[in-house]
Amino acid sequence: MKWVRVSASRAYDVGIGPGLLDLLGVEIAARLRPQKIGLVTDSRVAPLYAARVRAALEQVAEVAEFVIPAGESSKNGQEYLSLLSFLAGKKLTRSDCLVALGGGVVGDLTGFAAATYLRGVAYVQVPTTLLAAVDSSVGGKTAIDLPEGKNLAGAFYQPSLVLCDTGTLNTLPEDIFRDGCAEVIKYGVLYDPALFAHLEEKGLGFDRETVIARCVELKRDVVAQDEFDRGERQKLNLGHTVGHGVEARSGFTVSHGKAVAIGMAIVSRAAAKMGLCKIEDRDRILAVLERFSLPVSTSIPPEELATAALSDKKRAGDTVHLILPAAIGDCRIVPTPVSQLVDFLKAGM
Ligand code: NAD
Ligand code: GLY
Repeated sequence: MKWVRVSASRAYDVGIGPGLLDLLGVEIAARLRPQKIGLVTDSRVAPLYAARVRAALEQVAEVAEFVIPAGESSKNGQEYLSLLSFLAGKKLTRSDCLVALGGGVVGDLTGFAAATYLRGVAYVQVPTTLLAAVDSSVGGKTAIDLPEGKNLAGAFYQPSLVLCDTGTLNTLPEDIFRDGCAEVIKYGVLYDPALFAHLEEKGLGFDRETVIARCVELKRDVVAQDEFDRGERQKLNLGHTVGHGVEARSGFTVSHGKAVAIGMAIVSRAAAKMGLCKIEDRDRILAVLERFSLPVSTSIPPEELATAALSDKKRAGDTVHLILPAAIGDCRIVPTPVSQLVDFLKAGM
């Protein structure tokens, strides 16, 4: 088992290891004094883990459980308001807390509810997908989607504890696990040649506890430096601007992880053509994505991809901040005029 301490506007521990679900109540009671806990989970995770988590939480507090339908479509205003009403109906107070048991959808929705219910109650992230373990459960970005786009309403609001029971990843369908692998590869490309080399060597058989802890350490360092996403944190969007275009243009039939993989491949090829990225590093990035059976190309025409990518909230006026690899472990933020995006994409496709 490993612990990582995150220092942001709130400092908190991230625990990573097998069997942590059973310790949830004890670990919460060591940090918070809730009389009631709002347990939020989804319809796929609930039958697998809710009873075990309830049993652990009931050792220290009364538990009220709220289950949303599994999937991105639940990260919406209606579920958000239903959750707030549920918490109010159960009379949770400011000294109580929420627990998010699930992937990034449950985590983002619960975090946003925690940020706003009674102007802020504590919450605990219990990530059960690889993506949530290495990315969304840490760093305090919370959000819901609007009909106009993804994550358009949200808050920066740090959790009080993150407990990642690596045993829960055993029930994750391989396809969803591979989506999370795209984010793990992203950390290697951004910051860590040794992590990248481990992924090259081991493929899907990488050491989960060590790799998740390493990704959390890397994210911790970024969040400590730039909690509110004004500079360094933007690098965590490597592959995401183009990926967002792929997701949006596919009507969200291409999953987030696969879209990010395509985005990383496109920016790597384009960066190599610009003379920024070494050819051998471009080839290693493409090869590791393929080793994880992640896609590296799309048939979406560059003009359509650019239009879809520009609907993303990461755009600032007439400029989009592209994250480009110069080498494995060294990426740059490159402000690019919107008018040059189609040519950039053509170079990378
Ligand atoms: P998800 O939460 O929809 O989970 C994917 C699927 O896996 C769901 O059907 C879920 O029920 C199921 N599942 C979860 N854990 C399981 C388990 N252990 N066993 C079996 N099935 C399980 O998706 P996700 O990929 O975890 O998260 C995607 C969301 O995260 C998006 O909404 C994205 O915007 C958000 N996100 C947020 C941040 C952030 O910093 N806040 C970062 C990246 C992504
Ligand atoms: N997932 C990107 C971030 O947390 O900034």
